Amino acid sequence: MERAGVAQTLLFLLVSLALCGMAIEAYFIYRLYNPEPADSASSAKILSDKCALPAPTRRPNLILPSKPVAHLTGGHGVHHGPEIMSWSTDTDPLLFEMEYKQGKIVIQKEGYYYVYSKVFFVEGSAFSHSMRLETPRDVWGDIPLLQSRKYSRKPGKEAHSNSYLGGVFHLHKNDSIFVRVRNTSQIVRVQAYENFFGAYMI
Ligand SMILES: *[C@@H]1O[C@H](CO)[C@@H](O)[C@H](O)[C@H]1NC(C)=O
Ligand SMILES: *[C@@H]1O[C@H](CO)[C@@H](O)[C@H](O)[C@H]1NC(C)=O
Repeated sequence: MERAGVAQTLLFLLVSLALCGMAIEAYFIYRLYNPEPADSASSAKILSDKCALPAPTRRPNLILPSKPVAHLTGGHGVHHGPEIMSWSTDTDPLLFEMEYKQGKIVIQKEGYYYVYSKVFFVEGSAFSHSMRLETPRDVWGDIPLLQSRKYSRKPGKEAHSNSYLGGVFHLHKNDSIFVRVRNTSQIVRVQAYENFFGAYMI
């Protein structure tokens, strides 16, 4: 009986220690991302800003990105083409020194960019997801940059998958990048953040 009591006390102490550790860690992580908050009201604002989609172009007092960046998400109101995906503009997409035109991100500054996209889709018998480049320097149509494919031997209507693409490319002013899929009717859009497309200069 006594040993059980000691074990219980020890367990309680260990759990308390672990919880204290986590609290201290959480505090340091918070301080790392929010150095020197002026007062509690402003730190609350910073936290609520972090939860919302950032829109640096509309909040002049927010720190601007140092390089071009774009992050777009899906949404229920978005009308895709048969193969080329469109992205939502009503949730304040993050767009800095980049333009968004009819499904395409248009580069404003030449440089090396990390480009990425994720889609959530119904497998069907086949699916493909690619990132393509359209450039005024090439008259032969668009160029594939990244691609993933999925073939299902036993096509199940209910089978869902995700596809993520990402890579670094040298892009010029007026180049545009866009996301093409086999058939946009295979894209599942339950939550806006399940389908996304973005790029940032490295
Ligand atoms: C980019 O497009 C704009 C508008 O069409 C044009 O005025 C400009 O010369 C182009 N710049 C380059 C580097 O292609
Ligand atoms: C895309 O899928 C829809 C629904 O399954 C179908 O009606 C349509 O014909 C497909 N489009 C192409 C280009 O295969």
